[in-house]
Amino acid sequence: MAGPTDDTAAPAPAPAQPNGNGNGVHKGSLIVVGTGIRTVGHLTMEAVAWIRQADKVLYVVGDPVAEAMLKELNPAGAESLTGLYAEGKPRIETYNQMVERTLDCVRAGMVTCMACYGHPGVFVYPSHESIRRARAEGFQARMLPGISAEDCLFADLGVDPGISGCQSYEATDFLLNGRVIDPASSVVLWQIGVVGDATFKPAGYDLSAMPLLIERLLAIYPATHPMYLYEAAVFHGCDPVIRPITVHELAYGGLSAGYTLYIPPAYASSSDPTTYYRMNAMIAANKAASGAAIG
Ligand SMILES: C[S@@+](CC[C@H](N)C(=O)[O-])C[C@H]1O[C@@H](n2cnc3c(N)ncnc32)[C@H](O)[C@@H]1O
Repeated sequence: MAGPTDDTAAPAPAPAQPNGNGNGVHKGSLIVVGTGIRTVGHLTMEAVAWIRQADKVLYVVGDPVAEAMLKELNPAGAESLTGLYAEGKPRIETYNQMVERTLDCVRAGMVTCMACYGHPGVFVYPSHESIRRARAEGFQARMLPGISAEDCLFADLGVDPGISGCQSYEATDFLLNGRVIDPASSVVLWQIGVVGDATFKPAGYDLSAMPLLIERLLAIYPATHPMYLYEAAVFHGCDPVIRPITVHELAYGGLSAGYTLYIPPAYASSSDPTTYYRMNAMIAANKAASGAAIG
């Protein structure tokens, strides 16, 4: 069967670096790839090729199909990092341990592949930090893009960020760091189901801080403004979850850690006539100047 796990489907990747330093010493490198949200369909051929050729594939994926696929692609090198999570443990501790494990492999001379679900650089601290530290220590390190939950959201909800712009925030960061929302643009709030809880919970995050988020959103949006809890389908043949809600309903609970909140624009954009006229005047002046030069 041809497909992402088919030998013939994957191109041979160019090496990230000459894998050695000329004196026989093996030099490690790091490639960070994303497995997408629905791994079977979203994993790119470039990522497949890297996963196959890596000495070690350190992965953080959330579903059994993705895990099975990584193990099939690289049976000898696949190693899960999800065991580093523990109930009640601050997530930042786990992330730092992921970075350490990754750097250990790179320093040991391995072509190391870190595989994270979605886009590996979207709301993923350990991937960026591993690259930063590997480079600082003189190793080659780079990231390949993947398909993120937001990409799936644009497709499933029919949102074009080019129409009214789109602001994207992590929900706790949005609350704590005074982020400013333009309610005439689309807004995506990530990690809505873990807002205010910095620890890991296999189920049932502490959402005691949700009233603060509701208060902030009510200061920006009418109480009846429609919003959507969204969860992209992880498995083929399944539909996404799209739950229309209002701000107050966020208090009712039942939020999964995999939910993302989408808030459509509440108002029409107000255009800026002054800039519009200045822009046209500049274009006209430029045309006149080039006409004069030709004439
Ligand atoms: C740590 S971030 C990882 C994001 C991931 N790197 C990506 O590119 O989509 C976790 C958050 O991503 C969002 N997310 C993850 N899986 C999702 C899914 N299947 N549908 C919608 N949002 C999802 C949720 O907001 C979740 O709290």
